[in-house]
Amino acid sequence: MNNDRVLIFDTTLRDGEQCPGASMNLREKLEIARQLARLKVDIIEAGFPVISDGDFEAVHTIASEVKGPVICGLARCVPKDIEAAGKALLPAGEKGRIHVFLATSKIHREHKLKKANEEILRLVAEGVRQAKAFTADVEFSPEDASRTEPEFLAEVVQAAIEAGATTVNIPDTVGYAMPGQYADLITYLRNHVRDIAKAVISVHCHDDLGMAVANSLAAVQAGARQVEGTFNGIGERAGNAALEEVVMAIKTRPDVYAGLSTGIETREILKTSRLISRLSGLQVARSKAIIGENAFAHGSGIHQDGILKMRETYEIMDPVEVGWGGTELPLTKHSGRHAMVVRLEHLGFHLTEEEIASVFARFKELGDKKKFVYDDDLVALAGDSVAGDSGAYALQSLQVVCGGSAVPTADVTLSHHGKNVSVASPGNGAVDAAMKAIDKITGKSGHLAVYLVEAVTEGQDALGEVTLKVDFGDGVLITGKGASTDVIEASARAYVNAINRSLLMQQPKTGVTMPLV
Ligand code: KIV
Ligand code: ZN
Repeated sequence: MNNDRVLIFDTTLRDGEQCPGASMNLREKLEIARQLARLKVDIIEAGFPVISDGDFEAVHTIASEVKGPVICGLARCVPKDIEAAGKALLPAGEKGRIHVFLATSKIHREHKLKKANEEILRLVAEGVRQAKAFTADVEFSPEDASRTEPEFLAEVVQAAIEAGATTVNIPDTVGYAMPGQYADLITYLRNHVRDIAKAVISVHCHDDLGMAVANSLAAVQAGARQVEGTFNGIGERAGNAALEEVVMAIKTRPDVYAGLSTGIETREILKTSRLISRLSGLQVARSKAIIGENAFAHGSGIHQDGILKMRETYEIMDPVEVGWGGTELPLTKHSGRHAMVVRLEHLGFHLTEEEIASVFARFKELGDKKKFVYDDDLVALAGDSVAGDSGAYALQSLQVVCGGSAVPTADVTLSHHGKNVSVASPGNGAVDAAMKAIDKITGKSGHLAVYLVEAVTEGQDALGEVTLKVDFGDGVLITGKGASTDVIEASARAYVNAINRSLLMQQPKTGVTMPLV
């Protein structure tokens, strides 16, 4: 392998999906995986096949349909996990990777696993060997590596490589490491693991102390050549290393990361970020580096003046290089179905005929209401459509009577398993009436903890997007998003989206009895 290349391993669909409320259905995962392929990530961790039928199916489908990146499935050092990952990855052939992991730190060994060091070493070797029977490409992770005694960690890593691991990942599972210390650990392993040159050193950092990106970059300087993380930094607890930051730091500071590069198509970054945000329901902060609304917005007059005179006075990156300010021609109501489909494919959406018909009908309605239909409008419409996976509820129609002395009343029709169900309900305002009608159909009862309305694109005719956080009685806040030029309809779509997500979260997870961090 070219030693100047830093491999980018995306775990949005595995660690990212562990983020509470971020569960995605198969179609949503597939759309994200396709976009990750356009972005040219090297490895996509598509799921944890043993954990549920849904995860198995997602890994299997992505392995069959997404070409380009290596497709990876996670497994504990347990035969049934490795077998499930091996089977799910079969369609990827040589491009399938099994990622086996086992905790190695003292606290995990003594309190979680209750296993002695020798047993850990034996399980690591057995797990890696078993995975090798399915694919040559095997990654091993000593979970909680950064809190493991370095001497023992070196033994574990050597055992994994001897058993055939081609990548050894050193996770900072609980986000405890500091940059200098983490870099020293990588250097220690390079100096103390006999066969370290036979494997790629990977890093996987969590953001509990806000150090995930800094730690990953420090490790790259110390010789790591694979970085794991997620776009938008979503993930377990405080999240994973934000890959857009890692990629752009390496690209923007060649003086520091001399000669190193990634294979990422950086102009696809913003599109990827928006797709993930839309489909996971997790919003990006306005001030977030690279991809936040304000990342390239200059408020002060002095800065604006400087930018006009020479962009580099206040911009260290060209926003166009990460996908901002593209000059795509917007579609209009006169654009045909073919033009819409081509644009959707360009945005990463590959829809069925039925979905195209439904998005096209909404596209035409939107075209009648506003002059231009922008890419963001289309992503919102198509996002609604892929969220309406089989088994999920979909909003078919909504009529609301309100204002004056009339009791606000909503008439809602939802489709479910191919059948339409209509219910009318009064409420305390139009949105409340729509939610109550939806509750009656779905048997759910949600409490709105957050309600946010935003314009997707600019102008008075913008498509409005509603983001909700809903508690369905178990204290977990589930995010839902919906878009329409009508705010009440956008709210109803967002509420149905939250209900579908909560149903997805209730699907049984099998096989794994220990918590995974
Ligand atoms: O954070 C972690 O340790 C993980 C492993 C499974 C790699 O996600
Ligand atoms: Zn992790």
